[in-house]
Amino acid sequence: MNHIVKSQQFDKRFINKIFSIADGLEKKTENSLRGKIMASLFYEPSTRTRFSFESAMLRLGGSVITTDNADKFSSAVKGETLEDSVRVISNYADVIVLRHYENGASERAARVSRVPIINAGDGTGQHPTQALLDLYTIKKELGRIDGISIAMVGDLKHGRTIRSLAYLLGKFQNITIFFVSPKALRVGEDIKAYLNKHGIPYQEIEDWESIIPKVDVLYQTRIQKERFKSEKDYKKFKGCYRIDAELVARMKAKSIIMHPLPRVDEILLEVDKSPKAVYFKQAKYGVTIRMALLKYLLT
Ligand code: CP
Repeated sequence: MNHIVKSQQFDKRFINKIFSIADGLEKKTENSLRGKIMASLFYEPSTRTRFSFESAMLRLGGSVITTDNADKFSSAVKGETLEDSVRVISNYADVIVLRHYENGASERAARVSRVPIINAGDGTGQHPTQALLDLYTIKKELGRIDGISIAMVGDLKHGRTIRSLAYLLGKFQNITIFFVSPKALRVGEDIKAYLNKHGIPYQEIEDWESIIPKVDVLYQTRIQKERFKSEKDYKKFKGCYRIDAELVARMKAKSIIMHPLPRVDEILLEVDKSPKAVYFKQAKYGVTIRMALLKYLLT
């Protein structure tokens, strides 16, 4: 059985395999998963991850059972543990897509599940399927992954998407990473240790002016309001890095702006019309990559 819990578990062979399946599935529907059931078990809000997984399963001919807001509408309310819920649901479905507010929840679920667990985001931990779709977006839009320079911007302390993407980029050649954040929201030591181990150069900076004309990928993230202790703490950082048309004009000709979304105020609407703005395409690639993952796991 294959659980998808963190980016470190993917090797290049697996990544290439998923990308190759995804290439063959673009804009397609098929019946390869007819008779299979996917359970989406979401304890935290989601638009893209839940809908794209559900869309992916339906496009492959499979079926979906779902609970969003599982912390209110599942038996968690009555005190049932995550482990017991997963033990039970793994009798009802062939794969479980789990989003949870606690780091490591997917690994806990994987220990007791009879079917594959897919981590759809666990607290400030990881979001490995987002990292795969991010990497797929880079490959599709820039035509390469090796050799890129990327700025990851914003709330790097709480952002699980940048954590998973940094781990994944650690497997490629000649990557340069700029971590752009306020000091208090810097990326975790575990990521830096991993990049050091894999010889991936990175810099931590607060001022992004000098790197804007250098990067191939500007990966913007929102300041994660829900992870702060108070509104006052959040407001100290809200709006600290905003992408506007003037900043986009200073980027390299062939460069892209990505964002895992949702966006709050960190990319101005005027940027959406730029050909560099690929964040909505990125969300669309999410369906193809999740179709590929489900097909890989269930056939
Ligand atoms: N990118 C992402 O995980 O979005 P959702 O929270 O809407 O699923």
